Amino acid sequence: MKHRILIVSSANIDFVQRMARLPQQGETVLESASCKYVAGGKGSNSAVTFARLGADAVFCAKVGRDENGARLKRIYGEEGIDTRFVFQDAESPTGLASILVEEEDGANRIIVYPGANGTLSAENVEEAFTCYPDGVFVQLEIPDEAVFAAARFARENDIPLFVDAGPVRPGFSLENLGRAEILSPNETECAALTGIVPDSVENCLKAAIHLAGVTETKYVVIKLGSRGSFVYDGKYYHLVPGHKVQAVDTTAAGDVFTAALSYAYLQKGDILEAARFATYAAALSVTKEGAVPSVPTLQQVKDFAAEMRESGR
Ligand code: RIB
Repeated sequence: MKHRILIVSSANIDFVQRMARLPQQGETVLESASCKYVAGGKGSNSAVTFARLGADAVFCAKVGRDENGARLKRIYGEEGIDTRFVFQDAESPTGLASILVEEEDGANRIIVYPGANGTLSAENVEEAFTCYPDGVFVQLEIPDEAVFAAARFARENDIPLFVDAGPVRPGFSLENLGRAEILSPNETECAALTGIVPDSVENCLKAAIHLAGVTETKYVVIKLGSRGSFVYDGKYYHLVPGHKVQAVDTTAAGDVFTAALSYAYLQKGDILEAARFATYAAALSVTKEGAVPSVPTLQQVKDFAAEMRESGR
């Protein structure tokens, strides 16, 4: 079944530089291996993931009335994403992320200038709900009022809500989210939201119990990077292992994971199967450069999963 997913989130252009080593404070490094402008933003990465996996993706976001905004809208259109609710703000520029990627292991450091993302309003979100979604996916790279409006409209209309808790937001009131089907933070976000670093099974469980209690969440899924993910259903927990791949660029892997998890969960309602599927999708994304350019298609995830199973990895 083709589900309609409303993604309420952010849109950025990513300025990406790959380098052998990061500069120290006060140092200028003249060794950047490459630099590119690519489509990114946690929302873009997630919307493209839903679309490439085969969902009917409707994106609610705000870009500037500028060249970057027009470029992003064109890219979404080419991906088959519904852009009726990608609003354009006349006052602020399209969001911009500066990303440094280390060549050795693909690890990144990101700083975001939110620009037009910071003007996404509750009214914009309300308008987007006229698309009658089967699921609502939200991330925290937009104003609180937009996040909470999405959560409220989802609750009032009995639509499953999927929350990717990225990026870390100091002072964010999780309890205002109310009910969620899945809440998925990464390790840094988990530590910021709970004060517990998820570095052991015991700590993952403590953090997951805390998160499930604060938000009335059915499933808490903590993303543990290459270690996999920790899935908690309110009673039992499971560790879903990661896969060994040659990491080229980890940017967007978390966005791909949570979107693929939500997609697969909506398809079959099986959280563990969904987490395994999402792990394949995210692992595949880190083998490619860039944010949106690294998002795999459904067929690529299936082929990769078959290959990994055959090789016993
Ligand atoms: O999660 C990766 C994304 O974070 C990047 O694409 C960047 O735009 C920031 O939003």
